[in-house]
Amino acid sequence: MAPTIKPPQTLLMNIRKYGDAVLRRKAKPVDKIDADLQRTVQLMFQTMYAEPGIGLAGPQVGISQKIIVMDVPEKGRRQPLVLINPKMEEKRGRIKSEEGCLSFPGISVTIPRAEWVRFTALNEKGMPIQVAADGLLSRCLQHEFDHLNGALMIDHLPVHVRLKVLWDIRKRKKAGVF
Ligand code: NI
Repeated sequence: MAPTIKPPQTLLMNIRKYGDAVLRRKAKPVDKIDADLQRTVQLMFQTMYAEPGIGLAGPQVGISQKIIVMDVPEKGRRQPLVLINPKMEEKRGRIKSEEGCLSFPGISVTIPRAEWVRFTALNEKGMPIQVAADGLLSRCLQHEFDHLNGALMIDHLPVHVRLKVLWDIRKRKKAGVF
């Protein structure tokens, strides 16, 4: 009998969907940047790229810690970005745009966010970093930062629109597509 060679398996994390309590919990600061954290960050990137998505926060994979991985490509090139214990230092302007979330499959909402933001954080090696951005990167930073505070994109909707979206989610859950 020929030996069976198994292809290497890619480990992916389970993405928590809206309704999971961990998404409403306030994430704790990371207190140790070590090999375990780096492994978590790597798994989060793999999970995000597999979806595909452009941002993923710890609570979305059941880890209630202040960890964000993002990749908003620029000119078709990958721009992986890790933010540990991020802080929003500044924000300016206000702009409405459409966004989605891996914890809300099939749902997109149009909500206002700051136009420009500046964040400080640590990277996966524990080095201080600073990110200032507008456009999609700015929106993604604010969206993921919200996740660390237990806030979700639907919280930014006016009540009547939010109810419509929640109704839509209920329908999608029943149909097994959420
Ligand atoms: Ni999200």
